[in-house]
Parts: sequence; C-alpha cells; structure tokens
Amino acid sequence: MTAPIHVAVTGAAGQIGYATLFRLASGEIFGQHRPVVLHLIEVPPVMAALDGIHMELDDCAFPNLAGVIKHDSDHMEDGFRDCNFILLVGSIPRKLGMERADLIRINGPIFTSTGKAIQASAAKDVRVVVVGNPCNTNCLIAMSHAPDVPRNQWFAMTRLDQNRASAQLAMKAGRPVGSVSNVAIWGNHSSTQYPDFVNAKIDGKPATEVISDKTWLKDDFIKSIQQRGAAVIKARGASSAASAANAALDTIKSIITPTAAGSCVSAAVCSNGSYGIESGLIVGLPLASDGRDWRVLSDFHVDDFSRSQIDNTVAELKQERDLVKDLLP
Ligand code: LMR
Repeated sequence: MTAPIHVAVTGAAGQIGYATLFRLASGEIFGQHRPVVLHLIEVPPVMAALDGIHMELDDCAFPNLAGVIKHDSDHMEDGFRDCNFILLVGSIPRKLGMERADLIRINGPIFTSTGKAIQASAAKDVRVVVVGNPCNTNCLIAMSHAPDVPRNQWFAMTRLDQNRASAQLAMKAGRPVGSVSNVAIWGNHSSTQYPDFVNAKIDGKPATEVISDKTWLKDDFIKSIQQRGAAVIKARGASSAASAANAALDTIKSIITPTAAGSCVSAAVCSNGSYGIESGLIVGLPLASDGRDWRVLSDFHVDDFSRSQIDNTVAELKQERDLVKDLLP
C-alpha cells in the first residue's frame, strides 16, 4: 500500500481553496494510486464553512482521499504536521486599484508564523508553494523563518502568468495553446514582471518568428500579462480564483513531473545568483524539473531589452524586501 501524500492548504474555504481541494482529492495531481490526506487550514471564524467543504469532499467518494484533517490558523503547527506539500493561499486579496505590493504590510506578518509552523512540523521533504500576494516576498518571509527547510523547497507562483502568457501568444499566432512552450516569467508576480517572449516558442519555432508584430510583443503583450490580475478584478469584482487554483496545481505537477526537453516551467524560487540576480531573493526564473529536483535553465538568451526588464522587476523585489526588513530574522 503506497503511503499517502499529505497536502495542506491554507485559506482552504476561500475561492482558490475551493477550486483546489477537489482536484487534489480526485487523484488528478498525484496519480490515481497515491492516496492523499488533505490538511485544511482556515481562520477561526470560517471553520464552519470548512465543515461544509469536508462534507462535500466525503460526498464525492473519491477513492484515493485517505483523510481530511482540519485546523484553525491559531494551530498551524498541528495543521502542517508531516505535510509533503503546503499551498499557502490564505491571505487578504487585493481590491480594485491596489497593487499586489500594497498588501505587503497586511499579509507579510501572516507568513512569519506560517514559516515557523512549517519549520516546526512539516515533513523533511516538504515543498511549499506560496499563492497569497505579494507571493514572492511572502515566500521570502516564510522561508526565512524556516531555516531547516532547504531553500530549493520553496516556490512562489508565477505559473498563472506563464499560463496567461502562453494563452495570449497562442491567440495572437492563431495556434492552439498547446503549441506554445518555453515561456518564462522573470522576477516578481506583479506589474513589473517580465513575460519573456524572446525565448518563447510556438510549434517549436521562436515566437518572434511566428509573430511578426514586434510592437505587440514588446508592448501590448507584456502589459496585458502584467495587468491581467487587475483586469480580472475589474471584470469579476474579485481576484482570480479558478485560474489561480489551476496554476497552483500546475506548479505542483511541474515540480513532480520531468519537464519536456526544450521547454521550461515558470516559478519563483530562491535565486542562486544565476543571470546576475542577487542571491536569496525569490525570483521568477525559467526552470526544468527531473521529477524530483529542479534547476534553473542556464541557456536562456537575455538581450538588452530583456536585461532591462529583468533588472527592473528585480529592483522591485529588493524594495519589497526592504519594506519587510523587520519581518526577516
Ligand atoms: C492574479 O494574478 O490574478 C492574482 O495574483 C490576484 C491579483 O491580485 O492580481
């Protein structure tokens, strides 16, 4: 009998949580033969809603859901006990007119106690994916409070941007989205991020050969990805939920599945200094996984345009880090 994988989700009763849990329980992510134990974590006032979600999970009769454990956020250490994957979703979402970084002093402190709880009780192999915004800097805060959890086990979510960028490139080229590959998101999951069209491919060819409209690539495309979260908030009256949940699950799948040759996956990870980016920051980079470990792909072409975009978004990450200096040990 295969040992179950333990997966914790904070903010489990929120919209992103709700769009995540049933897919985790269904066997879609870890395989039909891998039992899953879900650890659902919520703030105390929402625990009753979590009971309702638990009922619905039971009512799905998922064969490989091996257990559901619920804890309130005052007991995160119990909630994370022996967890192999932790999705940190719980946080205040931004409203119309805000930048994600405007949440930093509201959400940042949550990630201090979260990091300490992960350090205290998660499994040694735990992989942490931070979704709550500003996710790069929240990840930095949590990571810095969990010194025994290796740095290569921390991720912040830029996969939503990768998926958005792939979809926009496909639409512009008039090709199916599956024909787009190698889309890297550099830097911060914010309006300074750099969705890299220079290295992107469509049907295996450089996107810049397939899409001849350079002004669109350098201008409209980049802005549309940088502003997509805000556009969703404006249209929906609430921040993205199903697409964010989907991207969080895609991140997990990409970590545990070997990356196809000639392609990359995008996640923000702890910089090791590659591409001249300061070590220790949580930075969106082009990655490849072998199904267990990941590495930064070293062969991405960085031209002058890309360099200035990368420098700009990394500068913002440094500013965010400075804003939360008091939360970093
Ligand atoms: C998104 O990109 O949709 C999310 O990060 C939510 C937001 O505030 O933009």
